[in-house]
Amino acid sequence: MRVLVTGGAGYIGSTAVDILTTQGYEVSVFDDCSTGHGDNVPTGITFIQGSLLNRSEIAQALKGCDAVMHFAGKSLVGESVEKPELYWSVNVGGTRNLLDEMRVARISKLIFSSSAATYGEPEVLPILESASNKPTNAYGATKLAVDAMITDEARGHGLSAASLRYFNVAGALKSTRGWLTERHNPETHLIPNVLRSTPANPVKIFGSDWPTKDGTCIRDYVHVVDLIDAHIKALNSLSKPGHEIFNLGSGGGYSVREVIAAASDAIGSQIPFIDSPRRAGDPAVLIADISKAKRVLGWEPTRNLEAMVSDTLASFG
Ligand code: UFG
Repeated sequence: MRVLVTGGAGYIGSTAVDILTTQGYEVSVFDDCSTGHGDNVPTGITFIQGSLLNRSEIAQALKGCDAVMHFAGKSLVGESVEKPELYWSVNVGGTRNLLDEMRVARISKLIFSSSAATYGEPEVLPILESASNKPTNAYGATKLAVDAMITDEARGHGLSAASLRYFNVAGALKSTRGWLTERHNPETHLIPNVLRSTPANPVKIFGSDWPTKDGTCIRDYVHVVDLIDAHIKALNSLSKPGHEIFNLGSGGGYSVREVIAAASDAIGSQIPFIDSPRRAGDPAVLIADISKAKRVLGWEPTRNLEAMVSDTLASFG
């Protein structure tokens, strides 16, 4: 089976490329390298550098493929609030183009990178896939819109698809060519920022007055390797037209202070931090209910927070 990995030069997509090829899948990569890195793509892999906004480039990339894992997209919550048009254009318009070209190429299997940001501020914890969708930013709104588009594509044109709603992806994979890890600019994610904290530039804790046990936000962290394992299980579960949505997290949560404590243990000294104001748009607690992915896909995350921290630390050299 040949899988087109859109966004295959990015952090999560390149991890998928590595694991898919290790498991014997044929892989093509499609990426515009706006946030991804061309050097993440192994030599010998079919790599089309192109844009989701260009249908002929998508058509070229889909040649010979049997399925698509669609990671490509804009993914910064803060940026999405400032530039909503960019998110609607790339995430929604780009995915519309991809679905149209998949239909032309008669490719009917799709795994889509959705997000917990579709749920917004949760009313009930842990969050089930059936929870209400009230995204609080354009990023979450565009992921939700794409999920709706995929549902209609499955109904109208027989697409067989799964949307995977990521909670907080972390960790890194050591490939034969070195570490595949987060290389965002700017970096907004907690674990890389904690590991890069220095006394002169301490990591900021965004709010210490949240209604949680230690006053800091709680998130559900999942290792990128476990995340890709779920993608492959989801791909193999696609057998008939339809669209299923799965949460991917660990089913448990850690506070920002607990992440800093785990990272301090990993490096053997206290990580410097500074209590700072809340970040706009952050919910207090996000924890996934992952029972559907466990039950339907037979998936189980196996790597804990310590592994996510130590792999990220090792990947930073
Ligand atoms: N945080 C800090 N300091 C930092 C960075 C983050 O205190 O320097 C806090 C945040 O306020 C939040 C937690 O650490 O409480 C995690 O923040 P991240 O930026 O690492 O991740 P988010 O939970 O904001 O966002 C992640 C993904 C989004 C996705 C969302 C869905 O990055 O793409 O999960 O739950 F939309």
